[in-house]
Amino acid sequence: MNKIIKNKKIIAWGVGNAFINFVRKYTSVKIEYAVDDFTYNCEVAGTKVYRPEKLLQENKEEVFVLIFTLSSNIYQTISKKLQERGFIINKHFSDYSFIIKDQFASEMRQYGIELKDEWYSVVKSLFSNLTIPNHSSLLGTWLIYGLLFKSKNISGDIVELGVYKGGNAFCSALFINLMGDKRKQILVDSFEGFGKLSEHDPVEHKNLFKDVSYEEVSNYFSDFNNTQILKGHIPKILNSLHNKNYSFVYYDCDLYEPTLDSLNYFFPKISEGGFFLIDDYCVTKDFLGVQKAVKQFCKEHKLDIIEIPETTQGLIIKKK
Ligand SMILES: C[S@@+](CC[C@H](N)C(=O)[O-])C[C@H]1O[C@@H](n2cnc3c(N)ncnc32)[C@H](O)[C@@H]1O
Repeated sequence: MNKIIKNKKIIAWGVGNAFINFVRKYTSVKIEYAVDDFTYNCEVAGTKVYRPEKLLQENKEEVFVLIFTLSSNIYQTISKKLQERGFIINKHFSDYSFIIKDQFASEMRQYGIELKDEWYSVVKSLFSNLTIPNHSSLLGTWLIYGLLFKSKNISGDIVELGVYKGGNAFCSALFINLMGDKRKQILVDSFEGFGKLSEHDPVEHKNLFKDVSYEEVSNYFSDFNNTQILKGHIPKILNSLHNKNYSFVYYDCDLYEPTLDSLNYFFPKISEGGFFLIDDYCVTKDFLGVQKAVKQFCKEHKLDIIEIPETTQGLIIKKK
């Protein structure tokens, strides 16, 4: 494990899906306790949780704080609070990828997916500083860089379904353009939040993602000639697509029905060796409808899905 955290007390900030998945998989990492702004005075995944004030009173030379969140805007808010108290990034705190990135990369290598260290530095820097929110997690965007690279010579365009304010899509656009990749990047979102929820979706979250403007997101991408943005609800909006094949589809719409609709529409059109990556596949709370839909589809079509708990994602590789 990383030299910087040796002999330090590891304290987690944030006890959502990223934290729960981490604690379950990385059992050798001893987390002293966790803090959270909304969930406290309880136990989560066997770890005691307190208010952040407890952590802010610690001697910063004796602790290392791991921030557990999948969203860059939340990461930036917590990071700012720590910096205001004199905590230094990478010395006293980091996001949770800091101590698992090498193991994560080596696990992805088993599937032939290369995750380069220099891409990690870029993604980490964008996650820490880009003001367009990215809800795909730092490791998630790093994995997406690996999949964009791996699928570069596979026939068909690239799609992101569920873009919100465009954080991950913007990071992807930078990578695609710097790679000199000629594939088109197609971005699809209602840009007005969810449509109707099914019985498998969390009704308490029905109003998420409405605070977005299609015009504003379009402006972020105005210098990327290869990016096409489609505004509308899945499945109806898919009627305006006429591509015969795709090399990489990234799905991040959170709900049961659009998951099934997207798999049914895109999976047959993915070229051999191409990828369908699904966010929220490995969550243990909130958007559980995604996993239900994916399992249903994979069972019907006899497909294997690679579980990626670190990012909450699931990956299907189109077999040759
Ligand atoms: C979690 S956000 C996407 C986050 C984004 N991928 C990122 O990394 O920052 C989910 C998005 O899915 C969109 N969405 C959900 N259901 C949809 C549907 N049926 N059609 C189109 N967009 C949908 C929502 O509007 C929301 O913007």
